[in-house]
Amino acid sequence: MTMRPINVGLLGIGTVGGGTWTVLNRNREEIQRRAGREIRIAMVADQDVAKAERITGGAATVVADAREVVGHPDIDIVVELIGGYGIAKELVLAAIASGKHVVTANKALLALHGNEIFAAARDRDVMVAFEAAVGGGIPIIKAVREGLTANRIEWIAGIINGTSNFILSEMRAKGLAFATVLKEAQARGYAEADPTFDIEGIDAAHKLTILSALAFGIPMQFEKAYTEGIAKLTQEDIRYAEQLGYRIKLLGITKRTPAGIELRVHPTLIPMRRLIANVEGVMNAILVKGDAVGATMYYGAGAGAEPTASAVVADLVDVTRLLTADPEHRVPHLAFQPDRLAATPVLPMGEVVTSCYLRMRVLDRPGVLADITRVLADRSISIEAMIQREPSEGEEQVDLIMLTHEAREKDVDAAIAAIEKLPVVTAKVTRIRMESLD
Ligand code: HSE
Repeated sequence: MTMRPINVGLLGIGTVGGGTWTVLNRNREEIQRRAGREIRIAMVADQDVAKAERITGGAATVVADAREVVGHPDIDIVVELIGGYGIAKELVLAAIASGKHVVTANKALLALHGNEIFAAARDRDVMVAFEAAVGGGIPIIKAVREGLTANRIEWIAGIINGTSNFILSEMRAKGLAFATVLKEAQARGYAEADPTFDIEGIDAAHKLTILSALAFGIPMQFEKAYTEGIAKLTQEDIRYAEQLGYRIKLLGITKRTPAGIELRVHPTLIPMRRLIANVEGVMNAILVKGDAVGATMYYGAGAGAEPTASAVVADLVDVTRLLTADPEHRVPHLAFQPDRLAATPVLPMGEVVTSCYLRMRVLDRPGVLADITRVLADRSISIEAMIQREPSEGEEQVDLIMLTHEAREKDVDAAIAAIEKLPVVTAKVTRIRMESLD
């Protein structure tokens, strides 16, 4: 007996939606052999109806109003690729309320409203799949939620924003200015609609919030994530880091500690010899440390039309395969059974312990180093390495770079404030946190 096709309603046929259309059609036959039945996009909603019609060439019903799709009786799965948390939230909840399964790439929506969305999905016994929300085409959700279930996960550290990694890579390799590279990333379709989400670390924090929930069995808590972007990084910092044997990457880090869970996104110095330090361009890489398996790394294209479509279509196959499974026995949305989520606190940033790179602009005078090391010693911050650039001819000020041993964030904050008050220090101190990832 041949089963009837699964009818998909696609909301948004932009970069990822267009990729989904292409991949699903190009690989139709193989996908059908995998899923056990045909998966076809029956309806497409996009404000640009002409564009949607051009792409679909009459093979799907095109409408301007996505509400027509989410309530349509013929649609089995709604794919939400609109993004943001305004109309997208309304549509996802409406689709769930009409008993549709949902596939979404919307990390912002899940990080902020995931708890509510998953609860609604449980009430209606429908699935909400979101592989494309983190790491584009990398199957990281599946790895953490299913592949690593034997492990107590200790930490996850990832390059999970392609745009900022592209910018950092180009700045380092070609000495290009930040703004030039950002434009290029936007032109290639990597950046979010609002690119500040990429460069301020917000997009990475959305994705990290999802990973943290999956890793530790806690609710989504985006509001507790510490977020710092790459906009303030300079060529000097990139070069000094290199001299010291490090690369600067925008990392999302979530870690289990005895006091609670760390949840933070910030530029990070990582040893150049680590594989992840060599992940360049728009590529993403996520390191997951489990107690049994050790460290595992997942690498691939974190953005772009077809890579992200790869994850969307995989979710469509998953939902199709599991459509008939009893909801109690499906893979739980957030990896842990919903009634077994932990109340482990997410730590305030002040309690986080890391090593740091500190760059100080100082007058080239006797006693300057002693003043600075005293400030650090008074707060039990120990120095691991130091470089002082030779002043150029006639120059009064020099850069002083120190790498510290591990110290509590709030002690480093206090030390930086005290150092900035020293009369010999002429500019704000640059602090970049470090991770050895070993
Ligand atoms: N703007 C995102 C990035 C796209 O640059 O990684 C994928 O979520």
